[in-house]
Amino acid sequence: MKKIAVLASGNGSNLQAILDAVESGAITGAAVTLVISDKLDAFALKRAAASNVPTKCFLPAEYSTREEYDGALVTYLQAMQIDLVVLAGFMRLLTPYFVAAYPRQIMNIHPSLLPAFPGAHGVADALAYGVKVTGCTIHFVDEGMDTGPIILQEALTINDHDTMESLQQRIHELEHRLYPQAIDLCVRGKIKLEGRRCLINDN
Ligand code: GRF
Repeated sequence: MKKIAVLASGNGSNLQAILDAVESGAITGAAVTLVISDKLDAFALKRAAASNVPTKCFLPAEYSTREEYDGALVTYLQAMQIDLVVLAGFMRLLTPYFVAAYPRQIMNIHPSLLPAFPGAHGVADALAYGVKVTGCTIHFVDEGMDTGPIILQEALTINDHDTMESLQQRIHELEHRLYPQAIDLCVRGKIKLEGRRCLINDN
C-alpha cells in the first residue's frame, strides 16, 4: 500500500475527489495518509479531518528561508514514509531540494493546458487572453513553475457566455475526474518517462 501526502492551501475540492476515489476503489493500492497545508484555515484540513486523515500545518512565517521550510517538510514526509506527494492547490513553488528528494514522485494539477498560462491565475489568464480552448493538466513537478512532464491533459471549449465562475466550475469538474485517474496510473507504475514524454501503458 503506497502512502500519499496531499499538500493543499485552500478549499481542497481536489483533495476531496482523491479521498473519494480511494474510498470507492478508483485509486487502488494507495491511501492518503497525510494532508499538509501552509495555511491554518485551509478548508482542505477540515476535509482531511472528516475522513480521519492526519493533518499538519507548516506555516511559512515560522521559517526564514524557502530552503528551511522545504527542509522541514521533506524531513516530515520522510518520517511519515510518504511515497507520493500530490500538490492540490498548494500555492508554493518547491525548492530543488524538495524536488530531488522525491524524484518523479511529486504531482501537480494546473487549471490550463500547459505550457499555456502557467502560474497562479491559469483560469483568469486564459479567459482574459480570449483563447477558445483551455483545460487542465496533471504533471510531474520539476524545479520550474508548472513546467514538469505532462501526465494527463484534457481540453474544454470556452463559450461566449462563460464567466470566470462558470469556467472555473467546469475546469474543476474536469480536474476531479482526471487527478484520481493520474494518481491511480502513477501508483500502479503505469507511467513510463521518455525524455519529457509520459507514456501510459495501462493494459
Ligand atoms: C485547482 O484549480 C488546481 O488546478 C489549482 O488550484 C486549484 C485548487 O482547487 N492548482 P481546490 O483547492 O482543490 O478546490
